[in-house]
Amino acid sequence: VRDGNGVKGLVDSGISEVPERYIQPLQERMMNKHDSRLCDVPPIDLSKLNGPEHEKVVDEIVRASETLGFFQVVNHGVPMELLESLKHAAHAFFSLAPENKAVYGTGVSPSPRVKYGTSFVPEKEKALEWKDYISMVYNTDEEALQYWPNQCKEVALDYLKFSSKMVRDIVEILIRKQGAELDDSKIEGLLGMKMVNMNYYPACPNPELTVGVGRHSDIGTITVLLQDGIGGLYVRVGEENGAAKEEWLEIPPIPGALVINIGDTLQILSNGKYKSAEHRVRASSSESRVSVPVFTVPLATEKIGPLPEVVKKDGFARYREVVLQDYMNNFFGNVHAGKKSLDFAR
Ligand code: SIN
Ligand code: FE2
Repeated sequence: VRDGNGVKGLVDSGISEVPERYIQPLQERMMNKHDSRLCDVPPIDLSKLNGPEHEKVVDEIVRASETLGFFQVVNHGVPMELLESLKHAAHAFFSLAPENKAVYGTGVSPSPRVKYGTSFVPEKEKALEWKDYISMVYNTDEEALQYWPNQCKEVALDYLKFSSKMVRDIVEILIRKQGAELDDSKIEGLLGMKMVNMNYYPACPNPELTVGVGRHSDIGTITVLLQDGIGGLYVRVGEENGAAKEEWLEIPPIPGALVINIGDTLQILSNGKYKSAEHRVRASSSESRVSVPVFTVPLATEKIGPLPEVVKKDGFARYREVVLQDYMNNFFGNVHAGKKSLDFAR
């Protein structure tokens, strides 16, 4: 990791101004926190999927996925205490001494599936992102317990377990709505790879000059995101939803809720019906922020293309078929650039 201890190390060293290499070009800088609107859509109550309001909730999920590509959920199956523990675990990990985090860095990490880093693709970025992270790709429980950091391994595993039903339910709803049938092997292929990240955004002396995470969309099916109470997550309102110019909505922290966002995979499968949401994060001037996403991505060997049922109805395919591994290599090998990742499938 550049600077050994990431952005946190930089801040702990007592800087009073953002170093040059974190200063974003004008068009990437983020407006004043209070200048943008909050997304005021109420969270969707997933427990109602099991009752008389099932269809209404399905419609809410579908509608949100077709428009903003972002929504929040409550009664999602992840216990409240676990949400609190996850935020504490994130702070505990990033508070470790630099040498205890550095052991998870690229090239030295004891497992290829655990990686501590800073920014996104630092070697290619003109301006670095104001973020440190640890990412943990799930393989087996045994492997996770052996290689994931002690500060977060148990809670991260629990988070995966308690969120997986919700992920499966939401993805099934969205695929079925497109008239496609899903058997267990198809589901396994689509939801086969899971990754938990812990993100740390130190307080930033000049948040108006930097980005916590630059504009991007996620590549998988859906992302489940826990954010703490600080705020700073923004989603772009698409032109198709009436945005005259570039417009961003803040996704406000709601205690107990989780954020769901649609990834490129579902945009491709649905031939563009579901919107993989462009989003970014603004650092806080006064407090460090943590977030904990679970990414659910198809197996690396899966071929992803528009569902035949949708292509038949639409009369054409907006995307070509791609092998997920190739799609990932392209995404992780390039800097964040809005929804440019989708060009790989065109
Ligand atoms: C991300 O989308 O990469 C991070 C989102 C967040 O920290 O809220
Ligand atoms: Fe993201």
